Order: sequence, then C-alpha cells, then structure tokens
Amino acid sequence: MEIVKAIIPAAGLGTSFLPYTKAMPKEMMPLLNKPAMQYIAEEGLLSGITNFLIVTSKSKQAIADHFDAAGTLEALLKERNKSELLSSIEKLVRLAQFSYIRQSEPLGLGHAIWTARHTINKEYFTVALPDDIIVGKQPALAQLIRIARQEKASVIAVQEVPAEKVSSYGIVSIKKQITPSLFQLSSVVEKPNPKDAPSNLAIVGRYVLSHKIFNSLDWITTYGASRELELTDAIAHMMQHNERVFAYKVQGTRYDIGNPLGWIKAVIGTALQDPEYGPVIRKFLNELQVSDSLIYTSAKLTENCL
Ligand code: G1P
Repeated sequence: MEIVKAIIPAAGLGTSFLPYTKAMPKEMMPLLNKPAMQYIAEEGLLSGITNFLIVTSKSKQAIADHFDAAGTLEALLKERNKSELLSSIEKLVRLAQFSYIRQSEPLGLGHAIWTARHTINKEYFTVALPDDIIVGKQPALAQLIRIARQEKASVIAVQEVPAEKVSSYGIVSIKKQITPSLFQLSSVVEKPNPKDAPSNLAIVGRYVLSHKIFNSLDWITTYGASRELELTDAIAHMMQHNERVFAYKVQGTRYDIGNPLGWIKAVIGTALQDPEYGPVIRKFLNELQVSDSLIYTSAKLTENCL
C-alpha cells in the first residue's frame, strides 16, 4: 500500500498567538533554528512522504518561500564555505515536492482537507497538523503508516489526556482493543463535554485516511449543519458507512505549539534534548532568578505614554 502524500492544513488565523500572528504564519514559529513546518516536513520525509500539499491562506507566503530554492543565499553560503547552514532544508526541497492550495474562507479543518480533494486519487494519504509537534525515536507518521498497511484501513494518532482536557480534542470511542496501543474504533467525537466523553484518548494531529473521507466531507458539506466543517465528523460519518478506522497510541512527546505556553514548552523541551544547547539551558534554568518583569507590558506602555 503506497502512502506518499501529506495534506498539511496551514490556513488557520492563529488567534491564540496574536499579536505575533497578525502578519506572520504561526506555522513558521521557530523551535531552535527551524520553523515548525520544517519539523513537520522532515517527519513526513522520514516516513516516506514525498508529496506535501499545503493548504494556505493570506499572509502565509513565508511557508512557500521556505520550501523553495534560495539561489543568491545558497551561492553566497557556498562562497563562504557555509553551505551546511541550509543543508537540512535543501535536502527536503530536493527530495520532496511541495504544492499549495488556497483555502479562501476559514471554515474548519474538514473544509481545509476538502479543499485539497483534487490532489488525492483512490489512495490512502496522511494529514499532519502543524500545531502538533511530536518528537520521539520514530516519526509519528511512520508509526501510523505501519499500522495502516497492517490493517489496510485508516488510522488516527491518539494519546491519553486528563479528563478535564477532553473538551479541547477529538476523542475516540473504542469498539475493540487489539493490542495495548491499537484500537478499532466505533466512532469519534469533536471536543465533547467531559461527562459525555467516550474515552480519554485524544486525537493528536496525525492521520492516515482513506480517500473515502472525501465522500463524507462532500456529504457533510451538502447536507450537514451550517457550522465549521470538522474532520472528526467526517471520520465518524465514514465509520457509519462501514469503513474501518483504528486509533494508535503514538510513541513520543507531543507539544501543542498553537498557543504561547505550548510553544514555550516545545522550545525548552527541544533545547534540553539538543546536544549543543541542552547542558547550557539546563544550567540557565537552574540559575534563573525571576525578579524583574518585562519592561514593555501593555499596561506600562499606556502608563508611560499618557
Ligand atoms: C484539531 C482537531 C482535533 C484534534 C486537535 C489536535 O483541533 O479538530 O480533533 O484533537 O486538532 O491538536 P484544534 O486544536 O484545531 O481545535
């Protein structure tokens, strides 16, 4: 079973990260020296993905620029014997193909995926949400692809979350436990009330999906309620039409970098694991004295300008 395509929805407004995201794509937030999108693409490439279909919107040009050749800069670095500074991104650009699809209205994750429907044939494909960075020994997408091939079915990445957090995620409903990490599902529900949640296994932004998901997205677009089109609802609809869907507990640490706190944790977490920065950051955190506050808080700016 060939799985070589990834749809990456990157059209979101990034409201949890304003004002930073007013003009900057949140997908280009750096973790150490790489933008989040590059981590996602590297995870994909390591999992056998060669075709990245990125769903974008206004103010996202920096993403396409990042995954493009940079002639002048490359020549200059070569002249100075510093070509290695761009080697990781050059490798991606050489080995993979990046295409862009515009989502002109922010109508939800399901709609973003639906916008890319013409790029998928009768095949399984992956979806990777760039807010979710998953680091570990094996790329998260590779873990899912292995299960999809084994079961010949769609697979969703899940991790356990505390009961009070289930209302922030898509939550799976289990039909049958197959191994300690693998479950066949009976349904999925988007952001349930904790009291109605069918489990504490939350979807963490990686999917292998059958092309049949587009029939479900089409159906919901035509007949569904007029609210944001959720990918989770389409997956539930696909299951109601006898498609088998599995959930796999992916190994790895997952960071939600769509908000400042999650991003800070990701920066610290990745820095601590870095052989060069790790020891310095550990020492810095141990010695840190938090006595001064930032000078430029908005309250102080107002106070000083009046
Ligand atoms: C999206 C999905 C949700 C999933 C989450 C993971 O929600 O709709 O099912 O659990 O990503 O990060 P969002 O965080 O975009 O609201």
